[in-house]
Amino acid sequence: MKHNPTWNTWLTSPVRGSTRTTTPAVYFRRKFSLKKMPEAKVTLHITVLGLADVEINGQRISDDTFVPGWPDYRFRTYYRSYDVTPFLEKGDNAIGVTLGNGWYTGYVGMMYRQNYGQQPLFSLTLVDEKKNTIVETDEKWRYNDHGPIVENDIMQGECYDARLELGAWSSPDYTAKGRNGWYRAFIAETPELTVDPAVAPAVRPQETFEAREISNNFDFHHSHYTRTFDFGQNMAGRIRLRVKGPCGTSISLRHAEILDADGSIYTTNLRTARATDTYTCKGTGDWEEWEPRFTFHGFRYCEASWFRFMDLNKEVEVSLEAVALYSDMPRTGELECSHPLLNQLISNTRWSQKGNFLDIPTDCPQRDERLGWTGDAQAFIRTAAFFHDVDAFFRQWLTSIRDSQSIHDGAVPPFSPLVGWQMPDGGPGWGDAIFICPWTAYLCYGDKTILRENFQGMCDYLKYIENVTCVDGVRSHPESKAYRGFGDWLAVDPMGVPVTTSYELIGTAFHAYGAEITARTAEVLGKDAKPFWMLHGKIVETFRKNFLNEQGLPKEQTQAAHVLALQFHLVPDETRQAAGDRLAELVKENNYHMNTGFLATPYILTVLEDTGHLDLAYRILTQETFPSWLFPVKNGATTIWERWDSWTPERGFHPDGMNSFNHYAYGAVCAWMVTTMAGLELDPADPAYHHIVFKPRPGGGLTQARAALQTRYGHTAIAWEIKEGVFHVTLDVPEGTYATLSLPPEYQNTAPDRIEPGHYELEFS
Ligand code: BGC
Repeated sequence: MKHNPTWNTWLTSPVRGSTRTTTPAVYFRRKFSLKKMPEAKVTLHITVLGLADVEINGQRISDDTFVPGWPDYRFRTYYRSYDVTPFLEKGDNAIGVTLGNGWYTGYVGMMYRQNYGQQPLFSLTLVDEKKNTIVETDEKWRYNDHGPIVENDIMQGECYDARLELGAWSSPDYTAKGRNGWYRAFIAETPELTVDPAVAPAVRPQETFEAREISNNFDFHHSHYTRTFDFGQNMAGRIRLRVKGPCGTSISLRHAEILDADGSIYTTNLRTARATDTYTCKGTGDWEEWEPRFTFHGFRYCEASWFRFMDLNKEVEVSLEAVALYSDMPRTGELECSHPLLNQLISNTRWSQKGNFLDIPTDCPQRDERLGWTGDAQAFIRTAAFFHDVDAFFRQWLTSIRDSQSIHDGAVPPFSPLVGWQMPDGGPGWGDAIFICPWTAYLCYGDKTILRENFQGMCDYLKYIENVTCVDGVRSHPESKAYRGFGDWLAVDPMGVPVTTSYELIGTAFHAYGAEITARTAEVLGKDAKPFWMLHGKIVETFRKNFLNEQGLPKEQTQAAHVLALQFHLVPDETRQAAGDRLAELVKENNYHMNTGFLATPYILTVLEDTGHLDLAYRILTQETFPSWLFPVKNGATTIWERWDSWTPERGFHPDGMNSFNHYAYGAVCAWMVTTMAGLELDPADPAYHHIVFKPRPGGGLTQARAALQTRYGHTAIAWEIKEGVFHVTLDVPEGTYATLSLPPEYQNTAPDRIEPGHYELEFS
């Protein structure tokens, strides 16, 4: 039976901090009694402004982390529900909640603390199947703000003083009186916001990594130990620490993605994120174990340091393990090929997805930013939707986008959830996430819900673009009052010099794409698509009039101008080939490198292949010098870098403060590796891989490739191998679907036109 909690009473404490000072976690507990064991399931529903962990009778009820995540707290928060029957006992029971700051009151996005509210609060109910309330948040709860988590903040880190541990504080036989620090919990004013059930998967600890010590120093002068550890993988997560040391020893853990030239950890790119956790020992003589709760860091390296006591017999022993945290999205896609560096690129992309999919899709997990940048997410969603099932994940995040949009005349902000009250429109490629993300999710998963939920948002954004940002139909015109966008962000040439494509061209191109998606969405939803197709036609005309020359080719001689014009079908069919050829020339003139940024890079290989330049596409894909995908791989990257030149042997670290080593945007190339290199594609007219389009296009000297995917219909896969001139292809087509196979022209296609469900091993020569 579905129970809709009412959230009448919320609890809090007087602990506030300020916009600059962070606070301890606060512990709440309540005792309750059960005359007999409940006959049926008991469910706990909890909602939070802040973050909460729940314990019953001394046991955590789940390993969900950062509950309830990061909604747009100005309008909404989420609740989660748990079956807690196994934790209950006949007679006395106790429930405990540890309440942290999280995004609600902590530092977020280059701002101060307390962006949404001054102190965290929560509300919960425990109900049986007959809807009887067993416990709720009422005046019988006690709180204690002198527990061991003395500071907690996502960006800054967590400080834990084990000497302050509260003992069995969430057990029934514990005395919670004022004399040991427990006071009556404060009933908070009921917040005016919507409380929805969370649809996105919760963040959980997912993988662990062993530490390899890479340096061990003792500074005699300061009696200070510093040991540095390498986990071999850049990730988002935190350290599980084991320590044996005298009472009061504080172990400080600093996190970093990369090492400086002298072998010390490089933290300049974290900007104001302290990213430091501290554990202070009880000193029982035994190993003590600890993992922070309300923080995460982006790191591969950790530097542990502590002061040594004068008594030399009291040495400190430490042992570290890294725990990668990410949203519990089912893993769906596998991709590999015969090129080891490309396989590393695939792994790096997967890890940038894992490192940035913690409840919302963030740009990066390490510096003082970690925002849901819309441009990055739209560039990457197609790749993300292959590696993992991200349908529910994006559905929830798009709710935040619509919340942010609602107070902006239809404008879509550059990131969401919003921090602070006003942000300009995100502009071309950023705001357009409102079109691209729902549409891509629909193509991959076939669920119309995401289209239904976002259709109005698409319409509102189209109106905003036309009314506010267009001048004579040109979007991002210098004379428009609106923010003009970020352009083809971070595009550079092989000298590291920025490459600029006009904001007007980029804006008008994305406007056309947005209108096209809205038209297609209207068709899928059975609505009138005509006005959107008419608008699309008008935008295409404007584009041609303003940005194509008399020969029907882009006037601007940048790769990005050609890529976008081709990808969004803005050049007339008659000049498409010539535009593709010109793009190929521009790549050659750039010494066989792309010089595109966040917006054009995801499409460059697609349009080159589509216009007959497959060899060149592979040459760019396997290019090892900068700017290229394999340049970071050659330089030891284990995730995707934010910039093509985040680090170079000649110049070292990029001098700009904005320099992340875990930024998924450029990993968008994996979508091409799936659809074209391996050859597993969907059909937009019959989506979600109901019609599977196998179209392998080998090249680049590869002898093998394979893509496998758990679709909504079941497992599908293609694997190919070239041996002695014969093209061996293995296909898996799940029940309830059908497939077609398109081969490179050099092989004679003897496969049937329509391939029915089954497993096939085929050969072509
Ligand atoms: C973020 C990006 C984002 C950009 C907007 C940066 O600070 O890290 O990935 O899209 O700003 O230009």
